Amino acid sequence: MRTTIVAPSLLAADFSATGAALRMVETSGAPWIHLDVMDGRFVPNLSFGAKMVADLRKHSKLFFDAHLMTEVPESLVDGFIEAGADAITFHIEACVHAHRLIDRIHAAGRKAGISIVPSTPVSVLSELLRYVDMVLVMTVNPGFGGQKLIPRCVQKVAELRDFRDREGLDFQIAVDGGVNTATAPGIVTAGADIVVMGSAFFEATDRAALVRQISALSRPDSSPAV
Ligand code: DX5
Ligand code: ZN
Repeated sequence: MRTTIVAPSLLAADFSATGAALRMVETSGAPWIHLDVMDGRFVPNLSFGAKMVADLRKHSKLFFDAHLMTEVPESLVDGFIEAGADAITFHIEACVHAHRLIDRIHAAGRKAGISIVPSTPVSVLSELLRYVDMVLVMTVNPGFGGQKLIPRCVQKVAELRDFRDREGLDFQIAVDGGVNTATAPGIVTAGADIVVMGSAFFEATDRAALVRQISALSRPDSSPAV
């Protein structure tokens, strides 16, 4: 059994104190920070851009997991590579030439992730799964933190895990949206390697205990080493 990676999402932090929020993630023991980038077009909200990532990068060695919820992600990836993102995930719904973009991210030495919104089936990804490092399954309609997980989306995690086992692939499976202590066990049992936590993380009174609790959730042995 392997431990689960917790990726707190900065979106749920108080933006007037982002440095303090970064330190909260660091001291919690979480190895990743999830950075939600919204353009007001792909999703009905705006968040922050590459400058935020570059500024935070100077103060942290956490794994920076950028989630681009944007149209035309091709026009933005270079900025996030330069800013120091370790992984860049974009949406298949926003990109026709996803294979090319994955190549570009890899050429820069970064991990490439692909994400699907709740209305997109896993089957759409079948030609891409051998090229990506991570699949981010959205379990809410992206755009806002603090929403309730859509239970049906969790089945996609099991589908992805089965596909990965069958094809002998090694991408990681991440889940984003409505993850908390109540929903995480089912998500991890389904096969998630990484869970993103926004509001549940920043609202927790003991974040280190929360991270310990979620990290200790065991997932199937077939998951790739991280
Ligand atoms: C939603 C974002 C999520 C969000 C998760 O559009 O992609 O990463 O921050 O927040 P919670 O955990 O509050 O659902
Ligand atoms: Zn996200």
